[in-house]
Amino acid sequence: MAVTIPEPYRIKVIEPIKMTTKPYRQKVLAEAGLNPFLLKSDDVFIDLLTDSGTGAMSDQQWSGIFQGDESYAGSRSFYHLDNVVKDIFNYEYTIPVHQGRGAEQILFPCLAELAKQKGVSQPIFISNHHFDTTKAHVEIAGGQAKNCICNTALNTNTPDDWKGNFDLEQLADEIKKSGQEIAAIIITITCNSVGGQPVSMDNIRSASALAREAGIPIVIDAARFAENAYFIKQRDPNYHNKSIREIVRDMFNEADMFTMSAKKDGMVNTGGLCCFRDDENLFRSVQLRCVLMEGFVTYGGLAGRDMAAMAIGLQEALNENYLHSRISQVTYLGEKLQKAGVPIQNPVGGHAVFVDAKQILPDISPVNFPAQVLCNALYIESGVRAVEIGSLMMGRNPATDEQEPSLFELMRLTIPRRTYTNNHMDYVAESLIDVVKKADQLKPLDFKYEPKILRHFTARFKEIPRK
Ligand code: F0G
Repeated sequence: MAVTIPEPYRIKVIEPIKMTTKPYRQKVLAEAGLNPFLLKSDDVFIDLLTDSGTGAMSDQQWSGIFQGDESYAGSRSFYHLDNVVKDIFNYEYTIPVHQGRGAEQILFPCLAELAKQKGVSQPIFISNHHFDTTKAHVEIAGGQAKNCICNTALNTNTPDDWKGNFDLEQLADEIKKSGQEIAAIIITITCNSVGGQPVSMDNIRSASALAREAGIPIVIDAARFAENAYFIKQRDPNYHNKSIREIVRDMFNEADMFTMSAKKDGMVNTGGLCCFRDDENLFRSVQLRCVLMEGFVTYGGLAGRDMAAMAIGLQEALNENYLHSRISQVTYLGEKLQKAGVPIQNPVGGHAVFVDAKQILPDISPVNFPAQVLCNALYIESGVRAVEIGSLMMGRNPATDEQEPSLFELMRLTIPRRTYTNNHMDYVAESLIDVVKKADQLKPLDFKYEPKILRHFTARFKEIPRK
């Protein structure tokens, strides 16, 4: 029997990508201040910066685009999306937003306000792990973001099926200690910050039970909800025979609301959602903020055609053949690297392979950004763009100006959905394996220009001698 997993689609449109020479890449990376974020995308051969908004839409989605209703109020495309949300998630109230952080900026101030009305001065938000914009929006809303990730996630070498899980003991302790001060529990599925790792259904249930017992609202950060459901089907024997749809229902039954960047499992180039199971009061106050920050309540910063494409994308993401092919491609790249001895977060995550730069460049200090060093070397070697997830992204503590300690120094090879073939993956793996062989020649980085906040996007660097 054939063992190859073929893509459950064929290619109808192609977009040429340009291979450049090594000297050219050296020149443009130097001009970009040794920061791949500042490269022109035309100078990138395979772009693995992010899986966010970079996937390929289906013919159905493109047809949907033509049928988008651009009415300012009451758009047919909104009502279609609203019905799809009810059907998939069983949530009554839907607010469209321009992307995930649009949902964060309208929801978190309302949750923080509810806690403040009860006399809490700095509401606490607890997550398995906040994504960086999620943490920033909690803080802008006057809140404090705490992470409660399980210990197994921290050791990249030791495999564990559920590295996205909450440390339930720690969560229970935090709830006991801070009870009334906690504004919400945020369950991030899959957990991007620790390597696109899934959260088990048992863990979702237990975290939710702890929160409900204490009367704390539960939010799902749903960017990669379908990938999490796929892992549950694969890894939890109780769910082998359930459909992805049923698993999604079970996951979302455990929460009260969700924020979603639809640029991931929503399969669109832009869009997001903020949805509520049944809390009409909270929905109404978040809706008001939507009008101010995103747009009128039936478009939320999106064109009607964007909502049309999202409604179709959300349904396509539930297709098990698609998910199987998607996750298998990421695993394919990860296993190829592992076989060659490249250290990665093990097992391979849902949307990306996270390469452990700390192990490849152990003598380069976190403040000289080993994962950024590796990203640059990979770009020069191959034209492949990856992204640093480590000390550079973490930034400084605004109060002390000290570098925030980072759990990891990772280089993320993020795979866009339905976009590249396994030939591309082979090329990425072979190039990175070559870079790792020459790791002793790589130079640490120091800042030439360090922006005050969100520095990884616009910082410029120089190479310094290796000790
Ligand atoms: N939550 C998670 C778990 C995310 O990964 C992201 C975005 C967001 C929220 C914010 O969504 O970008 O639509 O505003 N992650 C992208 C990434 C940017 O590259 O991982 P957004």
